[in-house]
Amino acid sequence: MKKPIRAAIAGVHGHVPDYILTNAELEKIVDTTDEWITTRTGIQERRILKGDDQGSSVMGIKAVKGLLEKTDTDPQDIDLIICATITPDVLTPATGNIIAHAVGATHAFSYDLQAACSGFLYAMITGAQFIETGKYRKVVVVGVDKMSSIVDYTDRKTCILFGDGAGAILLAPNESDSGIMDSILRSDGAGEEHLHQKAGGSRRPPSHATIDAKEHYLYQNGQAVFKVAVLKMAEVVKEIMQRNCLSSDDIAFIVPHQANKRILTVVAQRAGVAMNKVMVNIDKLGNTTAATIPLCLWQYEAQLKPGDRLIFTTFGSGFTWGSAYVVWGP
Ligand SMILES: CC(C)(COP(=O)(O)OP(=O)(O)OC[C@H]1O[C@@H](n2cnc3c(N)ncnc32)[C@H](O)[C@@H]1OP(=O)(O)O)[C@@H](O)C(=O)NCCC(=O)NCCS
Repeated sequence: MKKPIRAAIAGVHGHVPDYILTNAELEKIVDTTDEWITTRTGIQERRILKGDDQGSSVMGIKAVKGLLEKTDTDPQDIDLIICATITPDVLTPATGNIIAHAVGATHAFSYDLQAACSGFLYAMITGAQFIETGKYRKVVVVGVDKMSSIVDYTDRKTCILFGDGAGAILLAPNESDSGIMDSILRSDGAGEEHLHQKAGGSRRPPSHATIDAKEHYLYQNGQAVFKVAVLKMAEVVKEIMQRNCLSSDDIAFIVPHQANKRILTVVAQRAGVAMNKVMVNIDKLGNTTAATIPLCLWQYEAQLKPGDRLIFTTFGSGFTWGSAYVVWGP
């Protein structure tokens, strides 16, 4: 009997801007210390996209171009580009359309998907469904955010957390035993009160009043989000491991969304996985929202072997969260 088509990760690439915003520089901007930031979050520095008229697509284009070159993929062979972002260049057209045009993916359709820090995971699972139908063969999923465009650099509780960046993967059909094996995706709109942007959309369109009230910046009740993030990420990691009969010894790496190093430590402990098996890039990149997971894969690529079992997990605004079980390899 013919095996069902499975989507596999056929390549990964990333891009981060050159400018490094260090904790020392933040000490000069807000009332904070390198010691507080490092011990409470694990972040030492983050990358910032500087310059006029530079949107998320600038980073997304570089990540996708690099991915196509690296995987020797003709842009015209791409069927679909899904761009996960909460910081699109503009509300319309989609940043995915802008990226597809710039990389020459003229036969692809493209769109944006918004699920904040879970955006990449949601987009990867969505892309995998297109492959599994058998109708689409090459799907690019790009997670990109220019968080510096929605962060209030007078609010010490949030400005220390975020950075800019982009990461992209190529999904392709695979009939062997590797690829995206299973996933759990969840959301709960009750989380809005703890993590949101008050204005800029249809409820409160941009006006002088919304700008004066700083309502276009990200608001976060850090402690409330922290507690739910730990609980939900640990819950879906355990659930996906159990239903795939995986013990901690079977796992090569947990690939978690990077919101706070302390969250990663607790999730790893609850899954019974040692910290040396947890991908971490928050120290050098901060929270890059939709880009954290593909940037982790890009950074750890050389350490991955075909057959390695990976557990992805995310938590973000919405609330949105989830996990995926992925076997690395061709
Ligand atoms: C944001 C976060 C780092 C804050 O850490 P925390 O330990 O919860 O800190 P709190 O918000 O309780 O603040 C503790 C104290 O530190 C202070 N503080 C906050 N930011 C500070 C900073 N950058 N420098 C120095 N002091 C700071 C607070 O004002 C507070 O002081 P007070 O007790 O005098 O009021 C943490 O809550 C977090 O990571 N939350 C989850 C983020 C997340 O998962 N997001 C989801 C995806 S984006």
